[in-house]
Amino acid sequence: MLTTCTTERQAPAGVAATANANANANANEHAGAHLTAELSDGLGACQATISPKFLYDALGSKLFEAICELPEYYPTRTEAGIFERHGHEIARACGMHTTLIDLGAGNCAKAASLFPLLRPAQYVAVDISTEFVSEALARLRLRFPHIDMRALGLDFSSGLALPADVRAERRLFFYPGSSLGNFTPAEARAFLTRLRKSCGADGALLIGIDLAKDKAILDAAYDDALGVTAAFNLNVLRHVNRLLGSDFDIRHWRHVGFYHEAAGRVEMHLEAREAQHVRWPGGGRDFAAGERIHTENSYKYRQADAIGLLEQSGFEATRVWTDARCPFAVIHAQALA
Ligand SMILES: C[S@@+](CC[C@H](N)C(=O)[O-])C[C@H]1O[C@@H](n2cnc3c(N)ncnc32)[C@H](O)[C@@H]1O
Repeated sequence: MLTTCTTERQAPAGVAATANANANANANEHAGAHLTAELSDGLGACQATISPKFLYDALGSKLFEAICELPEYYPTRTEAGIFERHGHEIARACGMHTTLIDLGAGNCAKAASLFPLLRPAQYVAVDISTEFVSEALARLRLRFPHIDMRALGLDFSSGLALPADVRAERRLFFYPGSSLGNFTPAEARAFLTRLRKSCGADGALLIGIDLAKDKAILDAAYDDALGVTAAFNLNVLRHVNRLLGSDFDIRHWRHVGFYHEAAGRVEMHLEAREAQHVRWPGGGRDFAAGERIHTENSYKYRQADAIGLLEQSGFEATRVWTDARCPFAVIHAQALA
């Protein structure tokens, strides 16, 4: 692991022009200088980091879809099973004709599975991977032509500015997939507090949260035998090369994914196979062999802690559905006045 940290930084915030704007229509690509500054700051830090939101360009989103098919990756299957078994109760708790706002919608499959029961008045699919979510929504419109739908390509990690045509009444934020676990608990509280503000007086949240479980299950889920998670993680370097103009050579890196029991989170890293120098406009860095870039955390909660986090953020958990075989919680939480 990292012991020293050798970086060059001449103009950390001034490298936006090097990103290939035509590479794909991703919200990242359009966001410009502050994201390239975030990337060069993260790569220049003593413990190099890349935010997990950069895992999702168009290919990253497709690779995540493939991960969901893997026998080792239990969260998608488990959560979908809870929706299937308890759909009617979930719909009763949420109510019908809500403004359903899907945070990190991806292929929109989970929300779509609930459409017949929830019958949303409006469906808003929010995702940083703009091209991917727009294509998913176009397919969904053909299946549910009577539902008012729109896709929003935005990065919700620092704020959630919803346009005026997103209905303010009866907002139901849908945040499945345990994506909340990508935030530290303090970041998660700040995120949920912002969400509470966007709920208005009568809003609510339906959230899926992965619960702590056996290390062997977690290790396998984030480091599968086929190497799909490895490809997903390594692809972030291609995305960063496009955004930042860096020259990462993917063949010089390998995927590492494991459950860190003391920290209560799965960690994903990219580990340098050999010593190397990586350049980007206005900066660069030496990486020693074995040095790692931290690319994702996935916190695993105890159910009581997840409920406590919601309460500290201005929500009241009204219903919880779990899977007895594979600990995972789907929680309906009402925004408190
Ligand atoms: C783990 S996937 C979950 C996809 C889907 N909701 C599910 O449960 O299967 C996370 C999704 O959130 C999106 N995402 C990640 N960070 C984001 C951010 N900061 N802003 C907007 N979308 C983000 C990704 O593009 C991806 O589609």
